[in-house]
Amino acid sequence: MTAKSFKIHEKATLMHGFYTLHVLETTSSTNEDAKQAALEGAPTGLVIQALSQSGGKGRQGRHWHSPEGNLYASILLRPSCATQDAGFYSFLTALAVYETVRHFLPLAKIELKWPNDVLVEDKKISGILLEAGPLKNDQFEYLIVGVGLNITSHPENPLYPVTNLCAEGAKNPPVSTALEIFLEKFEKWRLTLLSDGFDSLRSAWLSHARQGKMVARLPHKEIHGTFVSIDEAGQLLLKRDDDSVIVPISAADIFFDKE
Ligand code: BTN
Repeated sequence: MTAKSFKIHEKATLMHGFYTLHVLETTSSTNEDAKQAALEGAPTGLVIQALSQSGGKGRQGRHWHSPEGNLYASILLRPSCATQDAGFYSFLTALAVYETVRHFLPLAKIELKWPNDVLVEDKKISGILLEAGPLKNDQFEYLIVGVGLNITSHPENPLYPVTNLCAEGAKNPPVSTALEIFLEKFEKWRLTLLSDGFDSLRSAWLSHARQGKMVARLPHKEIHGTFVSIDEAGQLLLKRDDDSVIVPISAADIFFDKE
């Protein structure tokens, strides 16, 4: 990526040289910027942060409301992993967000909701959007990890309750500190994944998992059941209410009974 491509607000090198941070005052979507940078040949470890986004992207084509005051960042990785393993980064990112939120809210109830939501007191506080590049020899050319963390504001959502760090009692956490902590945690879990495989992440994720009754909303059906675990591929294992069969789910929107 060339500096010319973006209006660079600030540039710094963090974390043993692995991360190179570019901070933009505003942009459409940091995921789109990271994708563009990847196509231009930028190396793994590039982080693009924007203070606000005009076209923030959420999952399933939804809009991610992105006013100033919250964290919006995308990490470009070239993980050279098999395509089926790219999803592990989703759990890795959720763990890093979990620990970032824990730093600011030491006493709060914080849980992880499959596949990558972080809930504070039952309310969604962050969003994670992974976007993979084209395949080359059964490996993605790049993986963009986009993270939004609500710090000072959140939009109301008719589908589920939402919150932000300040609303939960954090004392004006600077966005830059939240990013720094997040990247430190992300790097710790990335190295764990590389050295130990998904199993360590899986155990850590499970120790914070939201359990109990849930509804998995798939494109053409709903499955009502009880959380059992996640398997070694990261699929959700749900014990179906109808027949007590444990079904693996690879993609769905998850809702809880009271939502
Ligand atoms: C979700 O719908 O839960 C995922 C939202 C992901 C939002 C982040 S903000 C930074 C990055 N840039 C984007 O356009 N989206 C992601």
